[in-house]
Amino acid sequence: PATSHPAAAHPATSHPAPRGACPFAPPPAYQQAVRDEPVTRVALWDGAPCWLVTRHQDTRDVLADPRFSADAARPGFPFLSAAARQIGAGKTSFIRMDDPEHSRLRRMLTGDFTLRKTAALRPAIQQVADRLFAAMTTGRTRADLVADFALPLPSLVICLLLGVPYEDHEFFQRCSRSLLNRDSPVEEVLAAQDALTEYLDTLTDSKRGNPDDGILSRLVERGELPTEEIGAMGRLLLIAGHETTANMTALSVLALLRHPDQLAHLRAHPEATPAAVEELLRWLSIVQTGVTRVAVEDVEVGGVLIRAGEGVICQLNTANRDEDRYPDGDTLDLTRDTRRHVAFGFGVHQCLGQPLARLELEIALDTLLRGLPDLRLAVPFEEIRFRHEMTVYGIETLPVTW
Ligand code: HEM
Repeated sequence: PATSHPAAAHPATSHPAPRGACPFAPPPAYQQAVRDEPVTRVALWDGAPCWLVTRHQDTRDVLADPRFSADAARPGFPFLSAAARQIGAGKTSFIRMDDPEHSRLRRMLTGDFTLRKTAALRPAIQQVADRLFAAMTTGRTRADLVADFALPLPSLVICLLLGVPYEDHEFFQRCSRSLLNRDSPVEEVLAAQDALTEYLDTLTDSKRGNPDDGILSRLVERGELPTEEIGAMGRLLLIAGHETTANMTALSVLALLRHPDQLAHLRAHPEATPAAVEELLRWLSIVQTGVTRVAVEDVEVGGVLIRAGEGVICQLNTANRDEDRYPDGDTLDLTRDTRRHVAFGFGVHQCLGQPLARLELEIALDTLLRGLPDLRLAVPFEEIRFRHEMTVYGIETLPVTW
């Protein structure tokens, strides 16, 4: 029979825990937990205890189980910062709701992110990538891959899809960076949330008499949702739609440059890019703080009893390196079987934008690697700054040359 864990009252490890010598690997304390105590207790920023689920199968079990709620308004929901707690108490988007409300709202967007719909975007995305690539390389031999390519590509694409003017990108990129940074002062995060909310509400209203073929406009025309609800969806898509893919692109290029054998394999086998993208998603698992839920009933997970009202973090990056599922999981191997990885989460909240993210990553890597056969770092690896403080892991800048 399951028992409450003896360490429950005094968690020894913090969340998030520091990474070790390898900046690509999950925190060593968590990787140790996978072996020693796969469902373990951690202390959040305010000292509150929370369960950390570290194994692959347990993660999928939790995320597929309706007894774990994503509703931030429920008592015991684990917030990863003071600002997140304040925002979570207010009106949020469907990523923080349970079914049936969650699926009612999510269903209004699924048609925009099907495989077929996404595949049809390929020429348009390739065109954006080609344009950015030309601007970055023409007459130059050095660039910051983040600012010049990895960030603008998904940002331009999500703006196009939503019907958000890209010329406002400095504003909304600044807001989303504040929102995703756990070290931002609370007032700054709340101000960013308010500014972004007001921006999207105003933009949504402006579509009323003036429709276009973006998602916001289509939601307006459906006539089922109030402005605030459309604005909240727009906010979710705008933030999720560019920070994630941008960081994945930059980290992927860096990871490949650090693994010349893997890079050579990819250069020699252009048809292997989709498989490479999956392995990079697994190996990097950039949603580094994991995904959060609260138990609404007592549930046993991995032999441990989690009680109703207790918070749970599914630590995606350790799950994706769990040796039981991915032998030699710490090794980047572009030819491995990556099926069932949880980089996009699992269950009803599994990433809505994953077909788009995959396509963007594929196009980004192909464009860069085919176009720059001599691509390399322009600074020593040790000088690259990793974004430890962000919900979504990444790098600030990636100086490259060719
Ligand atoms: C949800 C990861 C790109 C939109 C999620 C979740 C993860 C994730 C782990 C689950 C959160 C949870 O269960 O609480 C990623 C990664 C990406 C990426 C690693 C890129 C490499 C995108 C893009 C979009 C997007 C490009 C939009 C265009 C969403 C939305 C949800 C979501 C709307 C909420 C789904 C729901 O609650 O039903 N993503 N994402 N994501 N993602 Fe992504």
